[in-house]
Amino acid sequence: MKHSIKVKINGQLYLEEVDTGMTLLQFIRDTIGFTGTKAGCENGECGACTIIMDGEPVRSCLILAVEADNAEITTVEGLSEKDKLHPLQQGFIETGAAQCGFCTPGMLMAGKALLDKKPDASHKDIIAALSGHLCRCTGYKSISRSVEIAMEKIKGTR
Ligand code: FES
Ligand code: FES
Repeated sequence: MKHSIKVKINGQLYLEEVDTGMTLLQFIRDTIGFTGTKAGCENGECGACTIIMDGEPVRSCLILAVEADNAEITTVEGLSEKDKLHPLQQGFIETGAAQCGFCTPGMLMAGKALLDKKPDASHKDIIAALSGHLCRCTGYKSISRSVEIAMEKIKGTR
């Protein structure tokens, strides 16, 4: 069965017909073509598919595309402004927090959702925001440090 949805992704409006069983992750990657959002476990356990929907970080593998009707979504492709990387992306580069990069889009979106809400996030807040995001490469110190660096850059103290 098909259903029409209207969804804004990274500032652009999309009107699409989707299967009612299609996940938001499949919609973003396969229908819209934003493949920066990664499909990991597809079971809500790894965090790789995290996007921001109506201001909240959500796991897009656990949401149906039809549930995103009228939503506003940001994916990792919407982070940078033209050629200027987001401070979070700059922080990841500075600390070497991305290796294979598979977890990175989800980590970045979780970090952005946190900093949008709490520009003065504590270390504890950062750990809480990133908890449940699995990384097999870097360990988590460089990732959490990247969020702190981004915070300093946004505040202009770095
Ligand atoms: S792919 Fe969605 S949580 Fe792992
Ligand atoms: S950088 Fe490879 S899983 Fe995190």
